[in-house]
Amino acid sequence: MIPIAKPYLTKDEAQSAYDTILTGWVTQGPRVEEFEKKFCEYTGAKFAVAVSNCTTALHLTMIVAGIKNDDEVICPSMSYVATANCIKYVRAKPVFAEVNPVTYNIDVIHAEKLITKNTKAILIVHQIGMPADIDAFKLLCEKYNLKLIEDAACAVGSSYKGKKIGSHSELVCFSFHPRKVITTGDGGMITTSNEEYYKRLKFLRQHAMSVNDRVRHQSDKIIFEDHLEVGYNYRMTDIQAAVGIKQLEKLDWIIEERRKIALKYIEKLKNIDCIRLPIEEKGYFTNYQSYSIYLKENCPVNRNDLMQKLMDVGISSRRGVMTSHRETAYKDEYKSVKLPVSEDICDRSIIIPVFIPMVEEDIEYIISSLKKILL
Ligand SMILES: Cc1ncc(COP(=O)(O)O)c(C=O)c1O
Repeated sequence: MIPIAKPYLTKDEAQSAYDTILTGWVTQGPRVEEFEKKFCEYTGAKFAVAVSNCTTALHLTMIVAGIKNDDEVICPSMSYVATANCIKYVRAKPVFAEVNPVTYNIDVIHAEKLITKNTKAILIVHQIGMPADIDAFKLLCEKYNLKLIEDAACAVGSSYKGKKIGSHSELVCFSFHPRKVITTGDGGMITTSNEEYYKRLKFLRQHAMSVNDRVRHQSDKIIFEDHLEVGYNYRMTDIQAAVGIKQLEKLDWIIEERRKIALKYIEKLKNIDCIRLPIEEKGYFTNYQSYSIYLKENCPVNRNDLMQKLMDVGISSRRGVMTSHRETAYKDEYKSVKLPVSEDICDRSIIIPVFIPMVEEDIEYIISSLKKILL
């Protein structure tokens, strides 16, 4: 079976984790600090705060952005459900916007129509690695005095208008889940250009402690910590960070390799009339975290049949990005919400394998199998 994805992990990462374990410091410590510093250098962000995953990253950004009871946050429904969940964690209300039918990214015109006096923020998602139009949302947020937050779970290494994702706005959240382009097992990162946010994010991720454990351990005087508010344990471990540092060194190469695979898909599939392929517009650079194919009306098979037929010949695929408002946790509350573009894309697209290294024969086999079914 050709898998849908596979993390690119080598002896480098294993050695780095091994060395860290032998230092005896395995929770958040010097390796996390080093990973954060290197992440800033890579993305061009001013500050970075490593956390346990992107869901906790998003939760903390909601808190520092001051989102609370009954506030409204506009976000796409078409996203992994963690995007909407983090708004719920602070007892605010996700308000679902449509996506653009070509880029799958949140539609700025529809988002503006959803703004009310209760709207406090817009949470944009860089859909499966393809950057959203950050500048358009910056302008919209300035116009209505809203916070802008970026869910860049899938977009590490992607860029927008020549600058890496993570360097454009005040709160950007990344994931290092194994399904992403680089991984730390589980893990997340928040980048920010705002020093107050930076300090508060670091404070909240470690139980809102008045002094952190490293300062206490290194002190030659007795120090008792206090807990200044109800905080969280959203720490990344030094073992994860040791893996992340090695992954980050390879990120540009990994993306180059992924783009070569995507290019082959484009070359060989672009003339099939019954499907639509992703488009990378000028100024946008995707890491191809996933490669999705949309099945047009004239497609001889529906999505589920295509997925089954691919599985029958040993090729894994996944449904396209979900719509959160139709998931069981949301569907009663959002039963009156209709998002025809998002629903259509969700129901008609599939994701096909992209991972490193993918041998030429596997790429050719996927292409020829798709052609056999679709032509
Ligand atoms: C768009 C988006 N947001 C948030 C998340 C949550 O990331 P994590 O699994 O690191 O918590 C994901 C994970 O798939 C995602 O795709």
